[in-house]
Amino acid sequence: MKQLKGWVIDLKILKRINLTSTEIPTYFFLFILSVLFFLFITFIIKLNITQIIFLIFAFVIIFLIVNIFFIRKRNNEIQLIINIMRGIRKNQFNTSAEIKLPGNLNELEVEIHKMYRKIENDIDRLKKLEKVRTEFLGNVSHELRTPIFAIQGYIETLLNGAIDDKKVNRTFLEKANQHVNNLNNLLNDLIDISMIESKQMKMSLRYFKLTPFIENIISEFKESAEKKNLELNLLEINPELEVFGDKERLKQVMINLITNAIKYTEKGKVEVGAEEFDKNVRVFVKDTGIGIPEKDLNRIFERFYRVDKNRSREMGGTGLGLAIVKHIVEAHNSKIEVKSQLGIGSEFYFFLKKLKRRI
Ligand SMILES: Nc1ncnc2c1ncn2[C@@H]1O[C@H](COP(=O)(O)OP(=O)(O)OP(=O)(O)O)[C@@H](O)[C@H]1O
Ligand SMILES: [Mg+2]
Repeated sequence: MKQLKGWVIDLKILKRINLTSTEIPTYFFLFILSVLFFLFITFIIKLNITQIIFLIFAFVIIFLIVNIFFIRKRNNEIQLIINIMRGIRKNQFNTSAEIKLPGNLNELEVEIHKMYRKIENDIDRLKKLEKVRTEFLGNVSHELRTPIFAIQGYIETLLNGAIDDKKVNRTFLEKANQHVNNLNNLLNDLIDISMIESKQMKMSLRYFKLTPFIENIISEFKESAEKKNLELNLLEINPELEVFGDKERLKQVMINLITNAIKYTEKGKVEVGAEEFDKNVRVFVKDTGIGIPEKDLNRIFERFYRVDKNRSREMGGTGLGLAIVKHIVEAHNSKIEVKSQLGIGSEFYFFLKKLKRRI
């Protein structure tokens, strides 16, 4: 019973020095091995029984002291790591350089630094996303409010008597109708943006002939270009040239670029063309329009960004067109680029992979 009590006390000591259950057999095994080795040595140098017992006793004491020293040291290190983890959780560090571990734990310190920086970057990214989301919601509600207020205004004026005034009733209805169309376009653009950004946009990539594709789109714009007295030309392209992409999505890209070119050009021409290279084709839409100030060039692809908000809104624009273009072109592993000079004109272009014909 006494012996059992002794064991319990010993186990308690082991518990206090935090030996895990898997470590106990290892230590026990090491201990037995050392005792056997020790006995072997004493056997060789022929000691009497009292000396042997004394030596074993001394050995056990030394063994325990050394072990407790190392285990304590390890426990301190573990406690330090726990404190660091706690500190990271409670945001107690300003930079990763403040996290320090003893020299023997250098590798662990490097890993903790890396983890800290990753957490920092993730949090930064989440904060930015949150900001973008709030801005987006603000913009959407603002853009929705404008046409809804206008429609509401026209309807109220009509109801308050203007409906019987032949001079204005038709104009008011037409204007209200124009705003309904704008609202519809905005909703379609928003649906596209959310589909693209939530990666739900299915791409159907294949080779197709570029010339009929562009000719077709351009024919839809002849009327609006003529109305503004603008030339709309397709520069000559090799009629057999085939490019790789999603035809429907690329049509959306071309429509957005040509609409912009016509919208933001007062006189001159809009040219659409393709320049052939060895492996790819540069598709471009060029105009002699108002141009884009240098400072706005890298912002026009952001959602809702417009150089001249009032002018664009008057024309029914919401600033989503180029954001959609950017996403679609990027889904083709390409990049939309722009060159522009204020008052001279702009050129938007991107590259598509071309079909190489075997000769
Ligand atoms: N060809 C161009 N010439 C001059 N400015 C342009 C041209 N294309 C785009 N921009 C500028 O870039 C801004 C963003 O274009 P984007 O197509 O995204 O929006 P939008 O045309 O205003 O509206 P939306 O296309 O959504 O109807 C425009 O408001 C305009 O200021
Ligand atoms: Mg546009």
